[in-house]
Amino acid sequence: MENIILFSMYPIEIKNLVKKFGNFTAVNNISFYLQPGEIFGLLGPNGAGKTTTISILSTLEKPTSGDIFVFKKNLLKCPKQVKAMVGIVPQELISHGFFTVEEILHFQAGFYGIRDNQGWIDYILDKLELTKFRNRMASTLSGGYKRRLLIAKALVHKPKLLVLDEPTAGVDIDLRQKLWEFIKELNQEGMTIMLTTHYLEEAERLCTRIGIINAGKIVKIDETSKLIEAYTYRSITFVFKKPVEKISSSYKLSQHGEKITMTVPRSVNLTDLMKEIKIDWNLLKDIKIHEGALEDAFKEIIKGDS
Ligand SMILES: Nc1ncnc2c1ncn2[C@@H]1O[C@H](COP(=O)(O)OP(=O)(O)O)[C@@H](O)[C@H]1O
Ligand SMILES: [Mg+2]
Repeated sequence: MENIILFSMYPIEIKNLVKKFGNFTAVNNISFYLQPGEIFGLLGPNGAGKTTTISILSTLEKPTSGDIFVFKKNLLKCPKQVKAMVGIVPQELISHGFFTVEEILHFQAGFYGIRDNQGWIDYILDKLELTKFRNRMASTLSGGYKRRLLIAKALVHKPKLLVLDEPTAGVDIDLRQKLWEFIKELNQEGMTIMLTTHYLEEAERLCTRIGIINAGKIVKIDETSKLIEAYTYRSITFVFKKPVEKISSSYKLSQHGEKITMTVPRSVNLTDLMKEIKIDWNLLKDIKIHEGALEDAFKEIIKGDS
């Protein structure tokens, strides 16, 4: 019974989704779900099928087959109800004609039948640092601000689920960090988030779970920390007081003068490793440890899939 309740609460549930463009299969039978309140990263190389999946979610594209449920509602059967619960930030910047930033937000609210939400509009303008541009023609904004406007638009109806397709592509570091902070804040207030990004360091910091998609298929899906643990190595550099004799080990090893670097699976513990190596540990001066990152795990997973 508990499972059924949990199941029905999924912010997104995608079942056997397929999207073909002619003979080409862009999304090849993917299934996954989002948990309430999480930040989920959908990561993959260019052309993997991320944007196609999001375009189907936003009803811009029709799936060839498969089902999508958003908070229990079937997207294909009740698109209007689904749209009211979801905010989508598209990858491509779009033209907004001759309207100001604020007009666009009011029109967008109008689509959802929302009036009198000036307070909320002021809040998101402020959070996205668009207040000073509220009366500017959207077409005259720079790329970074156009992207902020897309985020503001996606938020205008206070969706329960926010989907962002490369929200920080072409955005400078300062703004990127501010955007991620804002996304984190929205999440802490209860919004479920799904995003795609090529900045894996940011995905690592932000996402509780990651799905990796490659050539239209989900190849891995797990908690971020578990992926890193399972697919990365730890690189340990021992620095000695003077050059030491050549040693041998069953692990990958490079030795130069007073430095020995070993690359070991995350499961290997330092004490066991030091016991294995026949060396005078009294000569040890320093140890440097480099942990693998999501980026390393990502590369390893994609490599294993091709
Ligand atoms: N309208 C379309 N017609 C034909 N092929 C498409 C169309 N849209 C996307 N594709 C192809 O589908 C694949 C997946 O694209 P996309 O979903 O944009 O990838 P991603 O967002 O992961 O980089 C790519 O090979 C792309 O060229
Ligand atoms: Mg894309």
